[in-house]
Amino acid sequence: MSIKRIEAVEMEVQRAFCAENKRLLLERYGRPPKALVRAFGCAQNMDDGDKIRGMLAQMGCQFTDSVEEADIALYNTCAIRENAEQKVFGILGQATHQKEARRGMLIALCGCMAQQKEVSDRLKKSFPSVDLVFGPHALYKLPQLLHETLLHAAPGARRRVYDTEDSDGVIAEGIPTLRTDKVRAGLPIMYGCNNFCTYCVVPLVRGRERSRMPEDILAEARGLIAAGVKEITLLGQNVNSYGRDGETGMDFPELLEAVASLPGDFWVRFMTSHPRDCTRKLIDVIARSPKVCRCFHLPVQSGNDRVLRAMNRHYTRAQYLDMIRYAKETVPGIRFTSDIIVGFPGETREEFADTLSLVREVGYQSLFTFIFSPRPGTKAAGMDDPVPAKEKSRWFNELLAVQKECGMRFFDGMEGKTVKVLCEGYGKEKGILSGEKIPDGQALLMGRTEEGMVADFFGDAACIGQFVQVKVTKAQNFALAGAAVCG
Ligand code: SAH
Ligand code: SF4
Ligand code: F3S
Repeated sequence: MSIKRIEAVEMEVQRAFCAENKRLLLERYGRPPKALVRAFGCAQNMDDGDKIRGMLAQMGCQFTDSVEEADIALYNTCAIRENAEQKVFGILGQATHQKEARRGMLIALCGCMAQQKEVSDRLKKSFPSVDLVFGPHALYKLPQLLHETLLHAAPGARRRVYDTEDSDGVIAEGIPTLRTDKVRAGLPIMYGCNNFCTYCVVPLVRGRERSRMPEDILAEARGLIAAGVKEITLLGQNVNSYGRDGETGMDFPELLEAVASLPGDFWVRFMTSHPRDCTRKLIDVIARSPKVCRCFHLPVQSGNDRVLRAMNRHYTRAQYLDMIRYAKETVPGIRFTSDIIVGFPGETREEFADTLSLVREVGYQSLFTFIFSPRPGTKAAGMDDPVPAKEKSRWFNELLAVQKECGMRFFDGMEGKTVKVLCEGYGKEKGILSGEKIPDGQALLMGRTEEGMVADFFGDAACIGQFVQVKVTKAQNFALAGAAVCG
């Protein structure tokens, strides 16, 4: 295994490309170019999107949300399920249409889809409009790749730039980041995955597990807190194996405790914790760290041991439930969320019923539910899958109904209580408070509790980005409504 740490001097080279691109882009467009950056998929991919924005900002780009306005459209894609990919091909079609109408536009596609050979072949063959394609391993090289693209995209010199080479992955520190969210931030602590769950494409596109050094993570966390960020989510595909590569001198519970011990008023979350490597030590840290949110995302995928084995998850239903029991005993008021796959190849109705009973037994606050989607190159894609799609949809709806019943319990009895929320921004007009008059001088705001419950409330717009006490007046449809309490 070879994990490459990108040297500072290489990052210096990339900065030099930024300066050079700034000049070339100004020349090409006659003004600072407008860039559209869209990221799909998981929190790590969103964070990569912020890094792409950071690098483009250094090249003098301004940003737009509209493809009609964009000189550069860059799509940071996700390959986790087939529908995620189809969506991107649809969007690429629209961007191509724009490009035909306006000469000089550049289209780039990066992220997990780009790392799949099937996709890059399809782009080469059917999307000549796409100028630049690069996988997650080449992210730090965007300045250099865009430089090549700009040279090749000159009239008469058309050639497309591809960097999708297979790799175990790299760690590149010091990529500039332009965060879109000033209140909440994802903080990657590791990249890649070694688990090879049989359904999952991530290890194939994101390379092997590799951990950032604790001093880099802590420095970034300090910077975020100083910038006023109030919620930090430590990110990794399997945070519980942080440090397993032996270089960090810290395991995940120790790192979590170190981040949660930094001075300042903030919350810490983490994602994703694989049940296989979840330890009591981690739960003990949650129990004794007031800044770590009492909301634990522990994806179970299935409640049946045969299915879990076929998925290569390396834990049993009993082991999972044992960890949940320990967490419930150790951390009063802890809530759980999870991911579940319905209709894994060969799953029977009886096996699926085990998932339903596990969902009831744990009592999740919320669930992310997915129907199995075969991914090229994964083991599960080659397994017999006799259950018809219609039947899987029926099971899926059954699961949603069970979850609705279990999840609603958390909202019963909330009316009249005062809860602490982190105010993230303005609330939706069509939400739980729609039709009610906004008090003079106040705004409709939105926040989340430590447990992850969404609350719409009336309060001073100055609350945005702050912790606020909210008196709950209504609790329905998985949302809270209320008013900020002064003083
Ligand atoms: N690393 C995380 C999950 C990342 S992917 C973990 O191990 O928990 C997020 C979720 O997508 C997974 O938990 C799984 O529920 C779902 N998922 C992944 N591959 C899938 C596939 N091929 N079909 C359907 N759902 C899938
Ligand atoms: Fe995919 Fe499993 Fe790795 Fe999560 S732990 S990213 S589901 S292979
Ligand atoms: Fe998707 Fe890649 Fe994340 S496949 S879920 S964007 S790691």
